[in-house]
Amino acid sequence: MKFSLLLLTLLTCLAPALSQTPCEGKYDTRIKGNCSLKSLCEGALLSVDCSDENSCCIQRPPLPNPSPVCISITNFKNLYGDTVRTGYIHRYLNKALNDINVCQNCVASAAFLAIAATMTNEFTTDDAIGTDAQFSADDNKYGNTQPGDGGRFRRRGYFGIRGRKMYESLLDPEIMESPEKAAMPDKAINIAKTKWTSSMTKLADGTMYGFSMLW
Ligand SMILES: *[C@@H]1O[C@H](CO)[C@@H](O)[C@H](O)[C@H]1NC(C)=O
Repeated sequence: MKFSLLLLTLLTCLAPALSQTPCEGKYDTRIKGNCSLKSLCEGALLSVDCSDENSCCIQRPPLPNPSPVCISITNFKNLYGDTVRTGYIHRYLNKALNDINVCQNCVASAAFLAIAATMTNEFTTDDAIGTDAQFSADDNKYGNTQPGDGGRFRRRGYFGIRGRKMYESLLDPEIMESPEKAAMPDKAINIAKTKWTSSMTKLADGTMYGFSMLW
């Protein structure tokens, strides 16, 4: 009796903390997520409004434990924090490093990691944050051509693709129809793979010059 009362009290107190506020994509409302703490998000963090310290997390399936391991989980968590999210992202990045064949190449792996961390503000967002006015200032930049392109084709994903021209170059009809999908970890590692293998691997040669050429 006492126990069930305790349980009931506990559940009643915890319920508000456990219930989640739904959120959705700004450009494609079929993309559904929950407002959650960034550190708990296993998916893409979109920059649509959620109250207080929460962000819109679009859940995507976790990957199995990586093999071979290109960056150790200990090193990764030392760099970016010991959270549910860093554990989740680590597996996607590790897969990307295997996919682009640089698992054994420390300099290239570091370059790839540096790009991904920079483009996502150290893995705290997958979708550039800014006001409508800031994005509309980009409507005629970065290969954009239409009003609204600046926001629609904002910087997204581990490789920070930006602008209509770069989005079009991916040849992915799903992303052209729904650009926020470029922020999803599964798409983001594919994009990173395409961009890396099409032009950049040969430049990550371990010299300062090669490294700066990535940009
Ligand atoms: C939001 O969170 C609830 C409760 O955890 C879950 O059942 C639901 O599937 C989530 N919705 C989305 C779109 O992830």
